[in-house]
Amino acid sequence: MSYRRRCTSDVRTNDAGEDFAQLLRSGDIVLLVGPLGAGKTTFVKGVARGLGVIERVTSPTFTVVREHECHNELGIATLQHCDVYRVASLDEVLDLALGELVEESAVALVEWGDIAASVFGRDVLRVTFEVQSDEIRVLDVEGVIDAQRANALEVWATS
Ligand SMILES: Nc1ncnc2c1ncn2[C@@H]1O[C@H](COP(=O)(O)OP(=O)(O)O)[C@@H](O)[C@H]1O
Ligand SMILES: [Mg+2]
Repeated sequence: MSYRRRCTSDVRTNDAGEDFAQLLRSGDIVLLVGPLGAGKTTFVKGVARGLGVIERVTSPTFTVVREHECHNELGIATLQHCDVYRVASLDEVLDLALGELVEESAVALVEWGDIAASVFGRDVLRVTFEVQSDEIRVLDVEGVIDAQRANALEVWATS
């Protein structure tokens, strides 16, 4: 089962991220998969808004991982934003120990997550971004999803 949402502009993709934040739980790792310009960072900015991040979110190009303090009622205190695009090898990804990065009250969003997928020794959520045209992106959410989250994702997909 997967959940799809069609986003007809970058604002809509940002909104999809903001709504998605509401179904996140501490400890979640979300892999973002899709080509350059697909809207991964746009989505993360929306998630950050939904989690109550105050500071500006930009691509963590030179740092690989950026931590943002969150202010929300979801029990999520930290957003870890990773971008493994410029990481040269799987060994380097392993060195980042991304799996251990997510502490109890944090969530991690990983751009180019498919590169890193094999280093996560546990369940992850995966959002795949398909570029349909200049303006249209189709977002597809998959993973091990329990009943509560399935309900929330059904609503998310039809919003
Ligand atoms: N529906 C859409 N969703 C997201 N971005 C879009 C959309 N339509 C056009 N764009 C443009 O595509 C680019 C997406 O960039 P970005 O979010 O940085 O992608 P990525 O992080 O996947 O490389 C932006 O320039 C944005 O304005
Ligand atoms: Mg990006």
